[in-house]
Amino acid sequence: MKILVTGGLGYIGSHTVVELQNQGFEVVIIDNLSNASIEVLDGIEAITGKKPIFEKIDLREKQKVQDFFKKHGDVEGVIHFAASKAVGESVEKPLLYYENNIATLVYLLQELQKKESSSFIFSSSCTVYGQADQLPVSEDAPVKPAESPYGNTKQIGEEIISDVCRVTPQIKSIALRYFNPIGAHPSIEIGELPKGVPQNLVPFITQTGIGLRKQLAVFGADYPTADGTCIRDYIHVVDLAKAHVVALQRSLNDRNEGNFEVFNLGTGKGSSVLEVIQSFERVSGVKLNYEVVERRPGDVIRAYADTKKANEILGWKAETTLDEAIKSAWDWEQKIRN
Ligand SMILES: NC(=O)c1ccc[n+]([C@@H]2O[C@H](COP(=O)([O-])OP(=O)(O)OC[C@H]3O[C@@H](n4cnc5c(N)ncnc54)[C@H](O)[C@@H]3O)[C@@H](O)[C@H]2O)c1
Repeated sequence: MKILVTGGLGYIGSHTVVELQNQGFEVVIIDNLSNASIEVLDGIEAITGKKPIFEKIDLREKQKVQDFFKKHGDVEGVIHFAASKAVGESVEKPLLYYENNIATLVYLLQELQKKESSSFIFSSSCTVYGQADQLPVSEDAPVKPAESPYGNTKQIGEEIISDVCRVTPQIKSIALRYFNPIGAHPSIEIGELPKGVPQNLVPFITQTGIGLRKQLAVFGADYPTADGTCIRDYIHVVDLAKAHVVALQRSLNDRNEGNFEVFNLGTGKGSSVLEVIQSFERVSGVKLNYEVVERRPGDVIRAYADTKKANEILGWKAETTLDEAIKSAWDWEQKIRN
């Protein structure tokens, strides 16, 4: 069965391609290489023994998207990762984000509407919850006004899919709301390749650990948490990737309750910034140079997932510990810098 993975050379996409190929799916990747390198294909091949089909296409080019579906008429499911994801940049360049994250989604759904049946898995985010009123945060928690154009594209994206599914029963869709993906494939053939200054905590820690950055800034240690730092739900990227395969299988097998569903993907466990630093120091043996600085505006204090729905309905559960995940990130950092 042929599955299109957009953004399949990116961080989460490449790990998902590996899991799909491991389960016997035939994968075709669309990526414009705006935030990925073509060598990722070799990493996927090294792990799975198979190179996926690759089409270098920019999904903003509607005609090319149409041509792709004419050429690959046998695509039965789409996992849509391709998007721009830097929150700060989205504030500076909102239209770039609305075009890249929303126009591309519309073009893909227009093509799926022409098919007799298809599955569509969408990369959403826990940012839709903002600071949730109750923790752990379940899928029923209200969606809060977005803090950035990036966050808004995830909310609007889910609404677009929901509206389309309402009138297009032949499309079965699942939106997956990721908490904080971290780490690399245990083979360290693929991992995260942040361009410029990392936006996320773990790559910043590993880059500081290896000496690429002088110091890690911890934004605030006076929050109402046990050690005063913010709490997030860090999920290993391979666990996340595996969830995509089970979500895809569910939507292909038409067992959905309705044809649009939403699932949280997290571990259910919150870890503070200081706990992540301690985990890094434990697994690497490296003392991290960090300094507590002022709070950063807009940071949510605590976010961790209620994973019951994914556990029960998808039969999926995150299995990797924080230490194992951080160790894989550190192994990857050492590999790419040496
Ligand atoms: N990494 C996270 O922390 C996180 C958290 C929540 C949600 N998400 C979402 O998950 C998805 C994947 O994230 P990631 O971390 O793997 O990002 P990534 O940047 O590593 O991967 C995205 C891929 O899409 C490609 N791409 C971007 N625009 C494209 C276009 N117009 N046409 C074709 N290809 C295009 C990029 O080259 C890249 O390979 C995104 O939708 C992101 O918003 C990520």
